[in-house]
Order: sequence, then C-alpha cells, then structure tokens
Amino acid sequence: MNKVRQADFGTPLSKSADTVKVEIDGLPTTVKVGTSILRAARESGVDIPKLCATDSLKPFGSCRMCLVEIEGRKGFPASCTTPVEAGMKVRTQSKTLATLRRNVMELYISDHPLDCLTCSANGDCELQDVAGSVGLRDVRYGFDGENHLDAETDNSNPYFSFDASKCIVCSRCVRACDEVQGTFALTIEGRGFNSKVSAGISEDFLDSECVSCGACVQACPTATLMEKSIVDNGQPDHSVKTTCAYCGVGCSFVAEMKGDQVVRMTPDNDGQANHGHSCVKGRFAWGYSTHRDRVMEPMIRDSIDQPWKKVSWDEAIGHAATRFKEIQEQYGRKSIGGITSSRCTNEEVYAVQKFIRAGMRNNNVDTCARVCHSPTGYGLKQTLGTSAGTQPFESVMDADVILVIGANPTVAHPVFASQMKRRLQEGAKLVVMDPRKIGLVKSARISADYHLPLLPGTNVPMVNALAHVIIQEGLIDEEYVRERCDTDSFEAWKAMILKPENSPEEVSKISGVAADDIRGAARLFGGAKNGAIYYGLGVTEHSQGSTMVMGMANLAMATGNIGRSGVGVNPLRGQNNVQGSCDMGSFPHELPGYRPVQDDVVRASFEKHWGVSLDPEPGFRIPNMFDEACAGNYKGMYIQGEDLAQSDPNTHHVEAALNAMECIVVQDLFLNETAKFAHVFLPGTSFLEKDGTFINAERRINRVRPVMQPRQGKHEWLITQELAIAMGYPMNYSSSAEIMDEIAELTPEFNNVSFEFLDRVGSVQWPCNAEAPMGTPIMHIDNFVRGKGLFVETDYVPTEERTNRKFPLLLTTGRILSQYNVGAQTRRTDNMVWYNADLLEIHPSDAEVRGIQEGTLVSLSSRKGEIALVATITERVQPGVVYTTFHNPETGANVVTTEHSDWATNCPEYKVTAVQITPAKHRTEWQHEFDENAKRQAEFLETAD
Ligand code: SF4
Ligand code: SF4
Ligand code: SF4
Ligand code: FES
Repeated sequence: MNKVRQADFGTPLSKSADTVKVEIDGLPTTVKVGTSILRAARESGVDIPKLCATDSLKPFGSCRMCLVEIEGRKGFPASCTTPVEAGMKVRTQSKTLATLRRNVMELYISDHPLDCLTCSANGDCELQDVAGSVGLRDVRYGFDGENHLDAETDNSNPYFSFDASKCIVCSRCVRACDEVQGTFALTIEGRGFNSKVSAGISEDFLDSECVSCGACVQACPTATLMEKSIVDNGQPDHSVKTTCAYCGVGCSFVAEMKGDQVVRMTPDNDGQANHGHSCVKGRFAWGYSTHRDRVMEPMIRDSIDQPWKKVSWDEAIGHAATRFKEIQEQYGRKSIGGITSSRCTNEEVYAVQKFIRAGMRNNNVDTCARVCHSPTGYGLKQTLGTSAGTQPFESVMDADVILVIGANPTVAHPVFASQMKRRLQEGAKLVVMDPRKIGLVKSARISADYHLPLLPGTNVPMVNALAHVIIQEGLIDEEYVRERCDTDSFEAWKAMILKPENSPEEVSKISGVAADDIRGAARLFGGAKNGAIYYGLGVTEHSQGSTMVMGMANLAMATGNIGRSGVGVNPLRGQNNVQGSCDMGSFPHELPGYRPVQDDVVRASFEKHWGVSLDPEPGFRIPNMFDEACAGNYKGMYIQGEDLAQSDPNTHHVEAALNAMECIVVQDLFLNETAKFAHVFLPGTSFLEKDGTFINAERRINRVRPVMQPRQGKHEWLITQELAIAMGYPMNYSSSAEIMDEIAELTPEFNNVSFEFLDRVGSVQWPCNAEAPMGTPIMHIDNFVRGKGLFVETDYVPTEERTNRKFPLLLTTGRILSQYNVGAQTRRTDNMVWYNADLLEIHPSDAEVRGIQEGTLVSLSSRKGEIALVATITERVQPGVVYTTFHNPETGANVVTTEHSDWATNCPEYKVTAVQITPAKHRTEWQHEFDENAKRQAEFLETAD
C-alpha cells in the first residue's frame, strides 16, 4: 500500500453509542451497533477485499468483492451492506470465497488496460491491490471481445483527467458528488455493458456542473479519475498534515510530497472542520506558492518612482528600521504603525502586533479584519460577551431551520456548504436573506422555503421585522429569556421592535420584500425547535453592520437559540485566519484576547512579560491611518500580507494616503498593488512554508505545518523579530512554538494551547484552559460569557449612500467559487480557466432600458469613480440592483466604493454603492480579452453557485 494513503474502513463510522460483540475469523471484537461487517473486520485488522465501498460514502453493494460467510446463514452476503449483529460469527476467507472473488476480479480485469507499470496510479490503485490480494493470475476471457479499452479520456478539467478506459463503473464518483459534495454533477448513463460515468449530456467535465471539489477523484479506486499533478510528477513518497490557507472553514489537508515538491493535496479524513472534504481552492489551487512571480529577495528603493534594488536581508531590514526611526524622530512616536494579516499564522500576527506595541511604542496596529468582520467582534461581544461565533460546523446537522443572511456559502465556504446541504436534504428548512438569488435559493435537490431578496442596506429593518412577527405571534422563548438574559434590556428591545415602523408591511416598503414572505419566514424561524443563523459579509460590510450583528443575536436569544447544538449565531469568516488575527490583539484598542489597552492590569501583565511600558491610548484604525497620512501626520507603515490598495474602499483616497507616506514596508508573496507605493519589500512565505496555527470560523485552532523550508530563506515571524531588534526592541524567539507558548501564557482563552498539545489532539476550539482543558465546541451553554445575554436596541438608520436620478442602481459585491479575494493567489493558478475577469450582473429590465446586451462592455460610475466591466444579464439580481466580484486589480471595483462605514467599527460599507451603468464608450485591449471569456464565465456563474 502507498505510504501516504489514508486509512479506509470501507463504510462510515456508526454514530451509535451502543456496542455489540462479534467474531471475525475466530477473533472476538466489539464494535458500535450499526457497523458493517466490512468495517468491523477492518477495525479489528482484517482486510476484506472491496471496490465499491469507501468510508466516506454510504454502502452500495455493487461490486460483489466483499462477500463473506456468516455462520448459520445461507449464501455469501456482501459485508459492506450487512450490519453486524450480536454474536455473529463471520468468515472472511475460504476456498469458495476466494474463487468467487477471483471470478469477479477476472471480469473487471478482462475489460481493463493492463498497463499497470506505466499507469500513474501504480502503487496507489485499489483495483491493483485487490487483484493482488485475491490472487488473480490469468484472465480466461482474453481481450478480443467487446470492451472499453479505446474509450476516450476527458482532459478538459485543468486539475484532473477522466480516463474512461479504466473505469469499473463502481459509482463511487457519482455517489461522492451526491453525498459528499452535494452537486449531483455525475450520473451513470446506460445499462449493463453500456453503462458509463457521465458529467452531463454530451458535456465534458469542464462544461458540466462540476465545481472541481475533487471528491470524485478522491473516491475513485482506479486511475480513471486522476490528479494531473500525479500524472505529471508520479506518486508521493511522504506526507505532512497541514491546513488550507484560503477561507475560514479551515480544512485540514494531507500535503503529499515527493522530496520537497508537493504533488497532491488531499483533504484529511481526520480533519475536524472538513472530515475529508475540500473545495477546488484548497484541493488544487496551491500552485501559486511556487509561481514565478513570487519575489524571493528583499528589495529597497528611496522613492517609489525608482526601480527596486535587490539587497540582502540585513540591508533591507536595517534600511526599514532606520527609516522608521528617522520618521519617529522627526514626526513623533505615533507617526508610524502597521497592519497584520488574516492570511498569516497567529504566531506571525502576534509578533507583528507585539513589534508595533513594544518596538514602535504605540498602538497603531490594525488588521484586514477591519474591513470584513470587525462588526462581528463588536456586536457579539456586546450582546453575548465574546467576539466569536457560537458553534462548531457540525452543529448544523442538528438545525431544523437555517437562516442564511448575507452569505453565499456554496462559493465562499464550500466545504461547510456541502455539510449544510446534507442537512437541508434531510429536511431542515431554509430561509435565505440576500439581495441576490444565491445558489442555495435553488440548486440540485435544494430549494429555500423563503428567499427574502431585500434591497442592499435594509438588513436591520428586516431583522427587526422578523422579531416583530415573532413577538406579535407569541414565539418568544419566555423561559429562556427570563433565565438567561437581561430582562430590562429585553423589555426595552421589545418595545422598540413593536413600533409600527418595524411591522412587515412597513419594512416591505423599504426592503422590497413582500410582507407575507417576511411573516412566513419569521414564523418558520420562530417556531423552530432549533433555529441557526449563519451570516457573512453581507451583514457586516454596512454602515449598520454592528447593529445587524446585534439584531441577529437579539433574535437568537429571544427565540432561545443559543447554547446547544443546532442553533447559534455563526459568522462565516472570510479569510483563513480572520478569527485568529483578531484574537491575537490586532486591533488598536485591544491586546491579545480582546482586552482593552486602557486596562492597567491587563497592560501590566504584558509590560512585565515584554519588558517595556506600553501606550495606554488606543492607536489608529486603518481609515484613521489613511486620513492622518493625507493630513501629513502619519508617515510610515509595516504592512504584513495585505493589499490595501486593492482591497480597501475608495481607492483614490487610499492611494493618496499611501503616496503621502515616507516609508512603506510591504511583506508579501508578490509585488501587489500596494507594493507600488512601497519603499521596502520583504518577501513572505506561503502556507506551505509556514509553521504555526490558523483559527477558523468555529474558533478551531488548527496546526499549519511546513512541508518545505521558507523558499525566500526566512520565516515571517523571524523577519518581524529582526525588524524589531533593528528598531531597538529585543525579541528573541527561537521558534514559532515559543511564540504560541507566550500567547498561551498571556491569553486566558489559550492557556492550554501549545504545538505539542495540538499535535497530540488534532485541533481544539478556544477557550481552551483549566476550565475547558479540551476546548469549547459550543459557547454560552449555561450562561453567556458576559453573564446575562444583553438585548441591544437596533433602530434603523438608513445609510447616507442613496440612489438618485444620477446614480439610480445599487451595487453590491461578492465572490466566486474559483477565485479568492483580490485574487493574488488564485489568479496565479489554473482556476483562471473558470473566471478570469469580474463581470457585472444586471437584471434584464435594467439592461434593456440602457441598451445593454450580454457581453456588452459597460461603464459603472459612482460618486467616487468610474470603472469598466463586461455585463452579464441575469435574474439572479433583482431590478435596481447590480452585482460584481472584486478579484481582479484591472477591474478596480473599489474605485467606486465609498468612505461610508460601520458606525461602531469603521468596517467599510462595501455592500451598498449607488451607481449608474451605461454602455462603455472606449474599449481597451484587456477588455477585448474579457469578451472572449465572457460566455464561459457567464455559464460558469449559472452553475458555480
Ligand atoms: S470513475 Fe472511478 S469511481 Fe467512478 S465509476 Fe469509474 S472507477 Fe468508479
Ligand atoms: S469534482 Fe466534485 S463537483 Fe466535480 S464531479 Fe467530482 S465530486 Fe462532483
Ligand atoms: S472550503 Fe475553504 S478551507 Fe476548505 S479547501 Fe476550500 S478554501 Fe480551503
Ligand atoms: S465493496 Fe461490498 S459490494 Fe462492493
């Protein structure tokens, strides 16, 4: 067996708590009730040959390879589909069984190319293994008859091939697509000899509904579905477990290696966030880490109109430190600061915030979470007492009604979406509150019970209206509120909610959603035994983002939906380590663990450990940094892994601020848009080189293990440490494990965490300390972290961003499955085959009045600026609303977004911009290229949700 292949027990683990005793080949064994004989045998170390069974899928019983004999029963039942019974005596080996299995295998092999030695799966092929284990030596039937040996190979997918000549029609791929991924892209077409796997009528994989999650490839027991990276490079020789660095699901992967080259990323069956599943990004889009665009040597320049000069690490770090010190001497201690990155590990982030607080001696540290989930931190802290989601992902399997608000899980959190879809197929009800008809509203075998297509900017009145109906119709969980919540605040909230302006009829007028639908959705959620709320940036990136987070927490508390499995308020975090970068003290007013810098006791604990006195005044947030830079007061910035020039709103203002600074140090993989304004470039590391931890959306601390040495020569925490030392602050970690030890010592929620502990237990959800030694999957079980749950009044204050005759449409933004944020990584992979330009979605009626057709290049203008995009006409958006993604720098989507932001946290209002769309007058070269791809991308958009 291949050294890196993960164990496969043949059928899924039984969830039963009860056990039975059975005997397999004379050996007594105890297994869970409901376990298949196949699994029971494998658990006790006996391998029964199998082909159509695998432990990620329900047993199917088609290949007849796993036959066994059971004492007292006639015939030869398939062990994969036969559950154990108490006292059962099973024989897995006998002369008859051996003959039966050999005969079956002979039939398979008689229609299979015998090219094992040159096959890419050689050594990692279940068919080959089983042929060996059943002792097949000859094939009596010859290869002259009808066969499939000339069947064509489909190479259309950039990452895997489908060689039909090797298919044994075991249906594992079809079932993986249905049961694991939930896309239902594959079928077995035809019958008997003519049966074959099909990705759609006359379609290849690329043009089918396939979303390239790789589940079918992983399930295939032969070389039929095979990663092209294995075809090109051969089989791996060792593996390392690590964590995906794309989204906040935090999938665990087995990096399969050949020397120091990754040849395949396979989702880890033991991964507690993903349970062996993946999406196209984590599974296949890791090639950017060795892309030729990566900068491998430090560079400096005196001014941004000069060319970069490659220098040694010492020179680059020394130059940056000297410039920062000179700026502080000239303009004061607070004239510099920095940004931490949610793409980096906790240890790297912690080092940066410590360097800024202890080395720069101010609190001018902020993080890219400012522009995504800062309202989550604020809103959940106010109401529940902690700045994090309440549940583990698997809690969704106990939810009866799922309320998805401003999130598009099938594209942004695909592996969690697959789990949610499984629960919906089991019968859970679904309410989607989103201006756009996202994939969950209607997809294969899933249909939302209510879609509330509200106008961008009307989340708060909508959540108030839901609460209004719930109160009016007596759906409040009075006992829960009485026992668990602050009742004074509840009464005040109730009085506010019952105001006439929060009735469905009134809210219908401003949101555009029918009052009956609001009522129906409220009744459904209010009447649920377990109601769970999942939300994303469509909640937070508004001028009332924090209000809306509190509105959802109010709704969950009022209906008794916090503190057990199947319920909760669950932020779907965008980036891999948003939760962690916030936990690590990246905000200008909070030290690690969300403790105020003004708190003398907290500050003293850090001062003692860090050996320096700390500034008690909160520092600048990102928008303040830009404003101060434009005003001439903020002159230098250390930017860790964040492309501010592309990802922050109102690009003209951001660029003016960056331009005004005297020393910008960018630490990144690539020369990004921000690097155009930088004076020092320090090359960063990809996740494949990092040694540390990420924290996912469920507060799960996952290990990130290096599969290769830092390619540019230095770990990122070490770069920060050397910069701190050069600035005069002694930092002396010898490993990232030591940094985690310090985090654990100084941060109560992390007291029990260490690399050694994580390596032993796999992963753990914080708080993890003396009270919760193995972590805390569900928060607020008996009490809220803040004591009594606090209801906060959520009056609607409309955004200042209004439509008018000049800007009559509302632009909202989102993501696409194959691309990630500003696209720095995914644009450097073959994911570009699906989507290489941002498109503008516009409703047919809005398009028609403007003379816009499918593929027309349009100009999109707002009060802030103007950009050009190719239009795609779709009813996914409602009249009056247009939508685009923001993955390409050429698009400059943030040229048009405004300076409006959340009142509490300054999170930008990306989701609401008043715009006008007109056919563009000029066409540039790259826009012509867009046209060529527009058709495929429009088709992809139809299916990719
Ligand atoms: S492609 Fe692989 S998994 Fe699918 S039916 Fe053929 S052999 Fe089985
Ligand atoms: S890659 Fe995923 S979506 Fe595509 S066919 Fe396979 S299982 Fe289905
Ligand atoms: S769901 Fe997120 S964490 Fe998982 S593989 Fe995809 S991008 Fe990576
Ligand atoms: S493995 Fe049991 S019938 Fe195929």
